[in-house]
Amino acid sequence: MCGIIGYVGKEKAVPLLIEGLKRLEYRGYDSAGIAVLEDQGLIYEKCAGKISALEALLDDKKFDSTIGIAHTRWATHGEPTDLNAHPHLDCKGNIAVIHNGIIENYRSLRELLDRKGHKFTSDTDTEILAHLIEEYYDGDLMEATQAALSQVEGTYGIAVICKDNPRQIVAARHGSPLVIGTGKGENFVASDVAAILRHTNRVVYLEDREVALVDPESFVVSTVDKTEVTPQIQEISWTLDQIEKGGFPHFMLKEIFEQPATLRNAIRGRLNYEEGTSRLNGLNLQYEELHLIDRIILSACGTAWHAALVGEYMIEDAALIPVEVEYASEFRYRSPIINEGTIVFVISQSGETTDTQAALREAKRKGATVLGICNVVGSTIARETDGGVYIHAGPEIGVASTKAFTSQMMVLSLISLLLARMRTMSLERGREIIDAIYKIPEQVEQILKNDSYIKDIAEKYYQKNNFLYLGRGFNFPVALEGALKLKEISYIHAEGYPAAEMKHGPIALIDENMPAVVIALKDKVHDKVLSNIAEIKARKGKVIAVATEGDEEIADKVDHVIYIPQTVELLTPILSVIPLQLLAYHMAVKRGCNVDQPRNLAKSVTVE
Ligand code: AGP
Repeated sequence: MCGIIGYVGKEKAVPLLIEGLKRLEYRGYDSAGIAVLEDQGLIYEKCAGKISALEALLDDKKFDSTIGIAHTRWATHGEPTDLNAHPHLDCKGNIAVIHNGIIENYRSLRELLDRKGHKFTSDTDTEILAHLIEEYYDGDLMEATQAALSQVEGTYGIAVICKDNPRQIVAARHGSPLVIGTGKGENFVASDVAAILRHTNRVVYLEDREVALVDPESFVVSTVDKTEVTPQIQEISWTLDQIEKGGFPHFMLKEIFEQPATLRNAIRGRLNYEEGTSRLNGLNLQYEELHLIDRIILSACGTAWHAALVGEYMIEDAALIPVEVEYASEFRYRSPIINEGTIVFVISQSGETTDTQAALREAKRKGATVLGICNVVGSTIARETDGGVYIHAGPEIGVASTKAFTSQMMVLSLISLLLARMRTMSLERGREIIDAIYKIPEQVEQILKNDSYIKDIAEKYYQKNNFLYLGRGFNFPVALEGALKLKEISYIHAEGYPAAEMKHGPIALIDENMPAVVIALKDKVHDKVLSNIAEIKARKGKVIAVATEGDEEIADKVDHVIYIPQTVELLTPILSVIPLQLLAYHMAVKRGCNVDQPRNLAKSVTVE
């Protein structure tokens, strides 16, 4: 949600921290701040606004420090103002803290600290951490931080520096990711490896309730309760190219265009043509266990929830196993029924979404085997699940999820194939699906060639204030996703509906100012969708249709057609969503919106 970077080493800290912050800006971008230790003591700057505003503040100042921490914020407690930006300091201005997460018992702690005479300057929950550490500080920053954290309820990823310890950063994690990056004569802390990847790919993921003391040469890790921990160094396979724009004006467009490659990565090594099935060893389930599954729950949030809906259609259609799709935020507070044969899948690009984590833990508490479909290797959800499938889409920086969505659907198609071939699906049908899967990346390439045509359509419609997205069957969730993409990045109001539901209410909205984007592929519901289109046209509505290549007739019935290649019905959502991603992107750009960092949003939602 917010972003943390810390550095201690031999280089000047400020430029390095600012560069790291810029790579983290997608995590939160309503205010930013930095604290460094100079000869004269602890110096900090912070302000509301983007990193560029912080840079402007620092511009005329000279910094020599080789240690510092920096933060980019997405406000939870307290508005995004200069005062509420991190770092937060103790009363004496000696200790600086940056924090991701939420301190749930901050009110009672604040009252306690108020009574002890601490003076607060912000409305944030984070500030109590600086004062609590001050309260316990007796020359040992690590011990004071451990003592303070033992009082805290909630989630945190923190980095702390203190004027008295000019070569030390203390970092800790509970429910909010934090890594230590190790270099030569320098070390880093960060909430996300993207911030430090230019300097090192060797990292240690802190576990919940672990605290690290980091200096330029070494680091030690122990728990809040002071039990020593042996850290495991891991090498990150992401490259610098993957976290840069590579000539594209926005990460979102780059990620849309990466989809042929990311889909190939999702498939690689996972298909067995001989047996007409897929190979997903990461599930960690034996053949017998897979065979015994008689009910599946898919739980996720946002775009990943839309992928889950597509998964429901896929698995029920192919493997004939009943599937339920649950918003993770609802699942965690329901009384879900988990039987012996129930398997739960949680789907999350970041692997850090709080609601999805809570759903995973609730399902485990109820005795379910919980599997993950994640992108970020080593993320909390990936580590806490019993097994799973990585989508291997590489870093997704644009706040609006695109390539993760298509890869999630691809992985769900592989899971459907695996389960289906153990049950009723024939070898011939399995091979037919595999043939179709192999063609998908190339077909996505073909759709992407229509980018300028889709941009032209966007230019005709970007001033409209309301859109309706309609689809049926496998493509109903794609209608939801198309609408979500548009509203997230262009702030145009958009609703997704199953096409036939339109006549039960939304049809009242149709007029010449309410365009409809209709996914009208040549499938078993084609004629029915054409009837829905006719209903819209009869009310002077404009229709942009996504149709199957070769369907010439539809052109006379709608205002614009975007064709996608033919594939098996089960895979159509992977193709049909691509034009909708481009349409949303171009409309948002035309409206002058910041597509990579839409207002009020952040890349991963680590609060409830
Ligand atoms: C998608 O464009 C969104 N920004 C958002 O809905 C996202 O998909 C959701 O927050 C879930 O994130 P996750 O996949 O990282 O768990």
